[in-house]
Amino acid sequence: MTATLASAEELYQKVAHVVPAVEWATMADDVEAIIRLKAERNAVILAHNYMTPEIFHGVSDIVGDSLALAREATLVEADVIVLAGVHFMAETAKLLNPSRTVLIPDLRSGCSLAESITPEDVRELRRQHPGVPVVTYVNTSAAVKAESDICCTSGNAVAVIESLGVPQVIMIPDQYLAANVARQTGVEVITHPGACEVHERFTPTDIRQLRRDYPGVTVLAHPECPPAVVDEADYAGSTAQMVGYVAERLPKRIALITECSMSDNVAQQFPGTEFVRPCNLCPHMKRNTLAKIRHSLETMTHEVTIDEAVADRARASVDRMLAVGSK
Ligand code: 13P
Ligand code: SF4
Repeated sequence: MTATLASAEELYQKVAHVVPAVEWATMADDVEAIIRLKAERNAVILAHNYMTPEIFHGVSDIVGDSLALAREATLVEADVIVLAGVHFMAETAKLLNPSRTVLIPDLRSGCSLAESITPEDVRELRRQHPGVPVVTYVNTSAAVKAESDICCTSGNAVAVIESLGVPQVIMIPDQYLAANVARQTGVEVITHPGACEVHERFTPTDIRQLRRDYPGVTVLAHPECPPAVVDEADYAGSTAQMVGYVAERLPKRIALITECSMSDNVAQQFPGTEFVRPCNLCPHMKRNTLAKIRHSLETMTHEVTIDEAVADRARASVDRMLAVGSK
């Protein structure tokens, strides 16, 4: 998707289902400035599916889940990448395209999973389980990726684990993703007590209540949800896999058990589907705003850099993951 040639007025059509016209009027100046600055700086905006609609539909060039953003980052030819998402995503973009300038609009855009684990934690797990491969979720710092054998995202975790052909893996730091993947693959998984603060708040009771309140609703859950929540859902997958499911089956009524902006963004594509919206906000993703993206491009801040020795080892883990996807 590209916003480069569209005016703010044309772009409004994509967000009119969720953004009132009076609100858009307050955003149009930033939208137009960002479009102009992207051309001046030869910049592209990569945005995660959890960005608010005015960012997702209004100013982004490439949107997707963590896996798509990582893959697309390798292909960017522009000089500057603005990563509208969280810090680990910006680091991954920098790892995969080190000659580009990678900017993040707010340096505080963290992630409860990334913050739950340190490189020393990984080394300790290796000491406790010698010879067991370490599979690390991309929702981690480059320093943690550097201690790992291979990375995964929620979209390819099963394929990555199966590619190793071993009976046991260390899968960090999301205890719920690890438990969900263990059930799908039959591989024994040693994990770490990390969790996504957004997805761990959903409960099986929430899903049962939803089914009572909205008869016939199809429920899609993110695999960062606890296994008991995934058990209550009709399908579990990454944010992009959820979009794929909706596109293929066009359910009449759907609930995406994930971050709030997801439904706002996807609803635009599927006018025939009713989106029921039980959701939790990610405070880290929500640090991204139009004003901060504009400021980021005006001032070329905040540049993401990674120590070279760490970057080489972290890149190897991410590259091994991308190689699984391309087999
Ligand atoms: P996806 O890779 O499914 O987009 O998930 C990223 C994330 O941060 C989910 O909380
Ligand atoms: Fe991290 Fe969860 Fe926010 Fe995703 S939604 S960035 S996993 S805290």
